[in-house]
Amino acid sequence: MNKKMTINSIQKTKGERPLVMITAYDALFAKLFENSVDMILVGDSLNMSFAGRKDTLSANMEQMIYHTNAVCNGAKNSFVVCDMPFGTYTNKEDALTNAIKVFQTTNADCIKIEGGADKAYIVEHLVTNGIAVCGHIGLLPQSVRGEGGYKVKGRTAKEQQSLIEDARAIEEAGAFCMVIEGVIAELASEIASCVNIPVIGIGAGNGVDGQVLVFSDMLGLFEEFTPKFVKKYIDGASIVKDAIKTYSDEVKSREFPEEIHTY
Ligand code: KIV
Repeated sequence: MNKKMTINSIQKTKGERPLVMITAYDALFAKLFENSVDMILVGDSLNMSFAGRKDTLSANMEQMIYHTNAVCNGAKNSFVVCDMPFGTYTNKEDALTNAIKVFQTTNADCIKIEGGADKAYIVEHLVTNGIAVCGHIGLLPQSVRGEGGYKVKGRTAKEQQSLIEDARAIEEAGAFCMVIEGVIAELASEIASCVNIPVIGIGAGNGVDGQVLVFSDMLGLFEEFTPKFVKKYIDGASIVKDAIKTYSDEVKSREFPEEIHTY
């Protein structure tokens, strides 16, 4: 069994080795992932791949707490990150109240919030009050409706400058690490070298301090769409569908249950 990571051991990986993060939403998968990853993210992406919604925006605190508890139950030896859902950290008071709720009702090791320099004062307020914070800059899925779609960031000089400022502001505010999503690889790599905390990429190339993927994407279970940055390690959807079809056929033909499955 791997030794459970802490915010300190996570920070020490910077410059030493890439961090591995994966999402999980339940105990079953969390337990399967636990020994191969450094951190498990209970992402609000669960609103899409678990709850079947069109984006992450309708995820709420109750849902995030429920799933975080399930993941913590399944992966007791893992560093667990709970994503703060849309609208729960629009000011520092609400952010702290909601983050405290996560810490008091789950065993999550930190929370994650989306935003750059504009959210630095919130990160600082949380950290000052004992909440470990993972930042999230670049493409912010919670801004999808506000921005009219998912847009890769860092194509213009203005965006490049503001992303570097975002990363520095989040570090200065006290976040112990950050996710960087949907950013041109060269810029993401430059950002990782501008800060002293680990920068974990998703759709941000190979020059950052670690990688995170949504498990249902990389296992090929989510069929709605596949972003360019996703590598499907197995075709999970076909494997599951074939197994269910075989089960169904065997029940209908009375091939299942056999003698060995019978009391
Ligand atoms: O919600 C999520 O799964 C995330 C990842 C995309 C980083 O925030």
